[in-house]
Amino acid sequence: MTIGPTIRKPDAEDGVAVHRLIAACPPLDTNSLYCNLLQCTHFADSCAVAESEGAVVGFLSGYRLPHAPDTLFVWQVAVGETARGTGVAGQMLMHILRRPENAGVRCVHTTITRTNASSWAFFRKFAKNLDAQCAEEKYFDQDMHLAGGHASEFLLKIGPFEPVAAV
Ligand SMILES: CC(C)(COP(=O)(O)OP(=O)(O)OC[C@H]1O[C@@H](n2cnc3c(N)ncnc32)[C@H](O)[C@@H]1OP(=O)(O)O)[C@@H](O)C(=O)NCCC(=O)NCCS
Repeated sequence: MTIGPTIRKPDAEDGVAVHRLIAACPPLDTNSLYCNLLQCTHFADSCAVAESEGAVVGFLSGYRLPHAPDTLFVWQVAVGETARGTGVAGQMLMHILRRPENAGVRCVHTTITRTNASSWAFFRKFAKNLDAQCAEEKYFDQDMHLAGGHASEFLLKIGPFEPVAAV
């Protein structure tokens, strides 16, 4: 029997492994190690790691919007190549939503470039599983906001959905 990875909150000791995982998961942008450390500590309640045999094989970073805390904004999702296709990304997102401290979350937002087919498929399937509506709009424009060097990012809004957390 294959045992899947353990999903848990990150902590500071995960920072370096998270940083390396994201670097190994194109087309994700890398951020500084310091940024990943802040995600793993200050934002641990809204982030998750997937760990298999002592190695970090998945990371999902997110935060609740400061002006709308019923919305979880998913910043990045990374699953190492060998762990893909087994539901790890979905398990990390559900782990965050099931936490009692996130009981107030009713919507998930994220931004995706047009060509990231796996990301669109992942989030649309997630919405379907929750029987939630989806809406999208251009959010960060390639020329206006991203200095022409990065494709436009489209905001995908999922929800509202029934609370997932068991309180
Ligand atoms: C996108 C990514 C996070 C998916 O991770 P994963 O653990 O393999 O995803 P899951 O197994 O939870 O997939 C759930 C659903 O997403 C969709 N999906 C995931 N990967 C897909 C792919 N390569 N092509 C099409 N659909 C895909 C499928 O609908 C899948 O459900 P199914 O297997 O029942 O068909 C992973 O491929 C990855 O890290 N990619 C590189 C980084 C990236 O683009 N991240 C997303 C941007 S934030």
